[in-house]
Amino acid sequence: MNDQSLEDMTPDMCAAKIFEISGEKFTPEIASDLWPKILQHKWLLSEKLLRDVGLRTACIDYIDHMEQAHKEFMAYQRKDILAEMGAQTISREVWDTISDSQPPKKLVQQKIILPLTEKGLSDKHGVVPPKTIIFFGPPGTGKTHFVKAIAGILSWWYIEIAPSMLMADGVDKIGANLRSIMEKSRNLDDAVIFIDEFEELAGSRDEGSRVDKSITNELLKQVPLLKTNKNNILLVCATNYIRKLDAALLRPGRFDCIIPVGELDASGRKTILEHYLSKLNRGHINLDQLVELTFGYTPADIEYLFHQVAQFAFEREYETGQDYRVTLDTFQQILPKIRPSLTDEMIEEFQKDSLTYSRA
Ligand SMILES: Nc1ncnc2c1ncn2[C@@H]1O[C@H](COP(=O)(O)OP(=O)(O)O)[C@@H](O)[C@H]1O
Ligand SMILES: [Mg+2]
Repeated sequence: MNDQSLEDMTPDMCAAKIFEISGEKFTPEIASDLWPKILQHKWLLSEKLLRDVGLRTACIDYIDHMEQAHKEFMAYQRKDILAEMGAQTISREVWDTISDSQPPKKLVQQKIILPLTEKGLSDKHGVVPPKTIIFFGPPGTGKTHFVKAIAGILSWWYIEIAPSMLMADGVDKIGANLRSIMEKSRNLDDAVIFIDEFEELAGSRDEGSRVDKSITNELLKQVPLLKTNKNNILLVCATNYIRKLDAALLRPGRFDCIIPVGELDASGRKTILEHYLSKLNRGHINLDQLVELTFGYTPADIEYLFHQVAQFAFEREYETGQDYRVTLDTFQQILPKIRPSLTDEMIEEFQKDSLTYSRA
């Protein structure tokens, strides 16, 4: 049927067509809204039944099950968006690799996880869980890891948007790509959307070029739209350079929480060390001593340390042909080669930023 083509159909034609097929009368306005949905339904039904379903069948089925058909189409569209955006599932166990003392686990638990998992109680007290948050802190402190852990413990999709993805079609298209991604995101449910290296997108408009300004302005529009959306969506942006962000974005009303992720204390290191130790071929190791020896190390430093130790053990055993077990002595050989990456200046700056920018 040639007259299916959307552009050619006036509202009156839509109403006439639907009436002809189904015997149901709709006003032209409603009919012109229904017509594209009927065509979508025809297409989806054909996909589902693996054969071409006629327009008549699709139209009657759509009108009989309008609500259900709409839900099905949304779910189908969501699947497409999830695939296109590279959505991943994250194991619940990632959450357990973070110690309660590792900032900001407690805060995230109280402000984000519990209000979502204890829905009845949060509704009762009028607690509205945050939808837009910023993590800031020096590199390697576990910001990305945290976002994954949140997606894992909530059993939500994890979708990472790298600034490079938005830049793929050239600098002039960044704003448009960002808008399109945010529009798609608003159709999702149960999803954590993560924008890493946020300062690359949301740099200060005072210092930025014309293009940067348009991106920041787009963000200023998109972030509040996400907040008014009823779906379960959490937007997390991470940056190593909170000072570079545009001040307008940091004002209340855009991001619900601005959360520092800083250095590890002994207990934080202990949990991460236990996690990585469990993967080694090891002899007896005094964990508390190792915790002392790794003072000042970030999660990234610890991860690197364990790569080096594992490689060392592997090479030793390859050379000697004898079972090599990692001990504290192995660590003491490798540790001097790995300096903690956080300098005193970095820690001092971070502490200042924490006072200036944090908002929970
Ligand atoms: N609690 C943790 N347990 C185990 N590994 C961790 C933990 N926190 C971070 N890591 C690891 O340390 C590295 C650096 O963390 P990442 O989240 O990428 O830091 P950031 O995003 O702040 O630069 C990552 O490879 C990550 O898997
Ligand atoms: Mg990161």
